[in-house]
Amino acid sequence: EKQGFRHFMLKEIYEQPAVVRTCLATYLNEQWRAADHPSHSPVFLGLDPQLTKNLQHIQILACGTSWHAGLVGKYLLEQLAGIPTTVHYASEFRYAAPPLTPHTLTIGVTQSGETADTLAALEMEKQRRLTLEDDYKPLILGITNRPESTLATMVNEIINTHAGIEIGVAATKTFVAQVLAFYFLALDIAFQRHSLSLEAIEHIMVGLRQLPAQIETILEQQGSAIEALAHEFAETQDFIFLGRGINFPIALEGALKLKEISYIHAEGYPAGEMKHGPIALLDAKVPVVAIAMPGSVHDKVISNAQEAKARDARLIGVTPMDDNQARSVFDDLLLVPHVEEMLSPIVAVIPLQLLAYHIAARRGLDVDQPRNLAKSVTVE
Ligand code: M6R
Repeated sequence: EKQGFRHFMLKEIYEQPAVVRTCLATYLNEQWRAADHPSHSPVFLGLDPQLTKNLQHIQILACGTSWHAGLVGKYLLEQLAGIPTTVHYASEFRYAAPPLTPHTLTIGVTQSGETADTLAALEMEKQRRLTLEDDYKPLILGITNRPESTLATMVNEIINTHAGIEIGVAATKTFVAQVLAFYFLALDIAFQRHSLSLEAIEHIMVGLRQLPAQIETILEQQGSAIEALAHEFAETQDFIFLGRGINFPIALEGALKLKEISYIHAEGYPAGEMKHGPIALLDAKVPVVAIAMPGSVHDKVISNAQEAKARDARLIGVTPMDDNQARSVFDDLLLVPHVEEMLSPIVAVIPLQLLAYHIAARRGLDVDQPRNLAKSVTVE
């Protein structure tokens, strides 16, 4: 069943090009061209228009890796679709929900569709809106890999992420598929609300279509280099992951992957916050992984990384192959294809999944069933 892979997690990492292909084939309209001035959406989400009409606010509820996907989603919904978006840990939201806002879409993100806190937070939100006037009616969208799950019974609509069953406790392909769902949703809303030009929408669609081949390039060309690098960290006790903007959630995700399967202490931080505390942790024993992708915060991340280097930290950069500036700053490189900022989380997360996997495997740990963890957390 592992098809020659040592663990399910590795198999699932390598399935990602195929998962992305399936999602694109399912949801992107191949025929859609800006030049035709189309009157229909570029994506086939089939959502009830009531769900996204007149929206003033989106709130995303999730746990763990799904919460990280929600953070990328916030970036896309705000920057592409222009809708103020808040992201909440479901376990916090259910006990201290913010005041109700009108014309609000609530999105529950859960790959299993069974996470107790996420379901409870969504139910609570639904109940508190049910008796209110129209502007406050419960509009709930689920993003899940299991359309037959309990989540589906509680929401108005589902986006099925089509990642296929995921066995490893560490979420990998389901995360990438959740992030893709947010691209589709953001493009759909951006089209309806004219927050992006048709050309800008088409440009993003062209970029999305290149992702499967780009992920393949990372897996094929970097797999063994990342494995060799990982072996140097088998005894490391602490890691810091830095990212900014759309890649800040990827720093969080890289750190979560590492801690849950390798039991190494790891923290993800927005790179600009380093000097407000965590920089005190740094010395030669704490490697720093910085996500330095092209775009608005590239130079800022590089200069934050240089601050870490000045504290003797070993610097590992997730950066495009053609980025000579970044290459000269980092001690070690996790190379990825050159993609533009808006699409960079999907390529940046792949080497971090591989790094976490190979460190844990080198330590001889039970990668697919890490201690104390369950695939879906169905109790509070
Ligand atoms: O099934 P869900 O997406 O609701 O699960 C949420 C978290 O329990 C899950 O993402 C967890 O953090 C993963 N083990 C992370 O790899």
